[in-house]
Amino acid sequence: MLDSYKRDINYLRISVTDRCNLRCIYCMPPEGIPSISHSDIISFEDIITTVKQAVKRGVNKIRLTGGEPLVRKGIVDLVKMIAEIPGIEDFGLTTNGTLLANFASDLKKAGLHRINISLDTLDAEKYKQITRGGDLSKVLDGIIEAKKVGFDTIKINCVILESSTEPDAVAVAYFAQKNNLQVRFIHKMNLETGYFKQVEGGDGGNCKKCNRLRLTSNGNIQPCLFSESSFSIYTNGIDQAFNLALANKPKMGSLNKKGQFYNIGG
Ligand code: 5AD
Ligand code: SF4
Repeated sequence: MLDSYKRDINYLRISVTDRCNLRCIYCMPPEGIPSISHSDIISFEDIITTVKQAVKRGVNKIRLTGGEPLVRKGIVDLVKMIAEIPGIEDFGLTTNGTLLANFASDLKKAGLHRINISLDTLDAEKYKQITRGGDLSKVLDGIIEAKKVGFDTIKINCVILESSTEPDAVAVAYFAQKNNLQVRFIHKMNLETGYFKQVEGGDGGNCKKCNRLRLTSNGNIQPCLFSESSFSIYTNGIDQAFNLALANKPKMGSLNKKGQFYNIGG
């Protein structure tokens, strides 16, 4: 599907939950966030219907995000249902990795193609501080398990403050190289001030090439991370929500004082 700037939209990112087992300092306040009530979280059925509609309109790339997608109950079943939809050429999931050791094998069997894992530092103390309590060894176990069960294009998302030459980033790059993982450096963004830069090693943040729409965990189609417009699949209907999101996809991101990473998906 083409947006009003003739960008070909073929990529749908789906936030399957706003919940997370970590509290990263750049993402959430320390006390966490008032979660969307369970009854307002988009059902698997509605996700599947939306994906099918998206595929009909030319989407061939799907990514599940959160929050942390692996805390959503039944996530493996959802992965399986999506993997069975004909027309999806690229199907990925972005995770913080802390629960991945338990899930990797089932996710592979369910038909997931690719995994991106967030890892900002290899210093266990610093990891604990950035994630407010996370256990780095769990993430490393998750990476090992994912490789073991046959995920071969694992990407590491590393959030950086200033540049990819800062010590934590250099250590992550070295680790990635040694373990045959691709690394992408994501400049710490600020939705409220509209601060973002292009992802190093990826197309995220490159507005001219942007090919994505987002489905939020409460059932809105959102044209841009850095835009406040979003269109409910319930009040508009799925097809019309897509039409509105396409028509309202901005030429460039500006700012978003309403949304957050944990409910739109990073
Ligand atoms: N800036 C950049 N990346 C962020 N993420 C979450 N919040 C931010 C932010 N403020 C990232 C996570 C993860 C991805 C899902 O989104 O670190 O890699
Ligand atoms: Fe959770 Fe990801 Fe936000 Fe960290 S950045 S708190 S892992 S959703």
